[in-house]
Amino acid sequence: MAVAVYPGSFDPVTLGHMDIIERTAHMMDHVIIGVLQNNSKTPLFSVEERVNMLKSVTSHLKNVEVQAFGGLLVDFVHQNHADVIVRGLRAITDFEYELQLAQTNRVIAPDVDTIFLTTNLRYSYLSSSIVKEIAGYDGDISEFLHPAVAEQVRNKLKEKAAANQV
Ligand code: PNS
Repeated sequence: MAVAVYPGSFDPVTLGHMDIIERTAHMMDHVIIGVLQNNSKTPLFSVEERVNMLKSVTSHLKNVEVQAFGGLLVDFVHQNHADVIVRGLRAITDFEYELQLAQTNRVIAPDVDTIFLTTNLRYSYLSSSIVKEIAGYDGDISEFLHPAVAEQVRNKLKEKAAANQV
């Protein structure tokens, strides 16, 4: 059985991530989405919120599960008896960081390989940060996110704005 881990911050999950998840689910027997919890960046959503959003938008994919993880990615891969890490490559600008990540992971865990999927051209410009920036200026984010996720982003930004006014 081929098991893949698709790791990331997913703050929030975008349609670009969804494209990679759906294609991986098609190729692999089982996919575990690993949501990083101890991210050095301050996330907009808590890890529980990110996990729940991912669970809701992948509920139609029967061979996909979602888990939070902390610590080293390769430890999470080993704990889940997975075979490979999957990452999406959007553009050449992703390449240097992704190569560093994949090579470091392979040095610390030689049995773990990383495979890359090139992002659908439609989403090659897309990132969670860009979406948050657009939403922060009240722009339309419906092209980039699942409707339920877009609603949560708008609500979260409203909550934050209200908290800042107190
Ligand atoms: O979506 P992101 O934020 O680019 O994902 C980055 C992620 C989660 C894959 C990376 O930060 C990660 O694997 N973090 C866990 C700690 C670790 O194992 N670091 C890699 C050693 S090089």
